[in-house]
Amino acid sequence: MKKTFLVVIMLFFQITFFILLESCASDTAGAHHYNFNTTDESGMPYPDVSFAVLSDIHTFDPSIHSPKSEFLQKRLHGSKLFSDSIPLLDFAIDNILASGVSFVIVPGDLTKDGELTNHQITAEKFKRLTDAGIAVFVTPGNHDINNAKAVRFTENGSKQIPGVSADKFAQVYKNFGFSSVISRDANSLSYAAEPVEGLWLLSLDSCRHSESKNRSSPYASGRFKGKTINWINKVLSDAHKNKKAVIVMMHHGVVEHFRGQGKSAPSYIIADFNNVGRLFASWNVRVVFSGHSHTQDIARADFGGKYIYDIQSGSTVTPPFCPMRFVELKDNVMHIRTVFLAENIYPDTDFAQEIYNLHRAAIKAPLISKMRSQSIKRAEYELISNAIADAVIAHNNGDENPANRVRINVSALSAKARSFYKKYSEKLDIYWTDIPPGDNNISLNLD
Ligand SMILES: [Fe+2]
Repeated sequence: MKKTFLVVIMLFFQITFFILLESCASDTAGAHHYNFNTTDESGMPYPDVSFAVLSDIHTFDPSIHSPKSEFLQKRLHGSKLFSDSIPLLDFAIDNILASGVSFVIVPGDLTKDGELTNHQITAEKFKRLTDAGIAVFVTPGNHDINNAKAVRFTENGSKQIPGVSADKFAQVYKNFGFSSVISRDANSLSYAAEPVEGLWLLSLDSCRHSESKNRSSPYASGRFKGKTINWINKVLSDAHKNKKAVIVMMHHGVVEHFRGQGKSAPSYIIADFNNVGRLFASWNVRVVFSGHSHTQDIARADFGGKYIYDIQSGSTVTPPFCPMRFVELKDNVMHIRTVFLAENIYPDTDFAQEIYNLHRAAIKAPLISKMRSQSIKRAEYELISNAIADAVIAHNNGDENPANRVRINVSALSAKARSFYKKYSEKLDIYWTDIPPGDNNISLNLD
């Protein structure tokens, strides 16, 4: 979500420590090299085809939890619409069935926290698509595997329930990518498939689930093992030899989606992202579909004549809009269309407005509480928390328009309010700056 943003806000003083931890861990990725393609060949054009992107669906079955649990009482409409995750998935699938697409890609975080039961529900829902002849390809997210937070919420706390291992994940989703592979990496859940003639889809497992087994929560950051990079080298080279166009899907991003993301929010972008992006671009992979940050954004990186777009999709359970994407490739142009599920899931109701208000209140609440504890007056804490909520929502929704930003006259603030606001003002500048191209509805020429 603006997960990114809230984490940055709330853990302001802990970030440096996390960066150190992440960079130490990245060093253990294992022996590998990046087999860059050094020719200037332009690669194969993409075949004409259409597909859908469903990201971070975070399936959560409320029926197994106590309705009196604190989680169900308080957390349902904050940053993720867990209570509506299954109706939202059903509605997304209805949209896909009516769309005429050939296949669907799902770049990770299929469940709230890797619960077996929620994976099984998700797989059952996907069967509606495969039964209709629409192939589904999944890749894991950081929440999905070896997650100790797989629990049932009770009246007095929580109880552990079965999660899934990597093998179990591949088994549950065997009909959604894993049984129709061209190649499968022996060291991760990465695979290559050919959803339509001439197009290879690399579903890359960027998550650190094998290192997360004995942790209280799984690593949120992403990286490839050295052996997986070697496998990616081979698949890219094979695709080139076989004259296939390639798209990539993975949970973590490959291109920075805002200035300094690699340093200020490293958990959201793959370790060594510059080399990984350069590798893909060198083999004429022009698009990567990512998820993870629950934010609609498209960013491009250029590497001496080659380029790559990172098309990051928001989450179907992230208020206020709950996006999903439809993609049409025609004459080597990628036409991207975004559908906001929240607007139409419950017609003739105030659902969209209600979740907008709840989401906004959830962003503001911790900020207000902090400012009140510093005796900042109401008019000032309302002004500042509204400015931060505006930035978070605009950034998550994509196509940020700085003209909509309400500027704060810092010199008119009290000393305490000014000091509080200054900690966030640079982040607000960053969040209101949309790196080109557009994010929601756009056509990208892939020549
Ligand atoms: Fe997620």
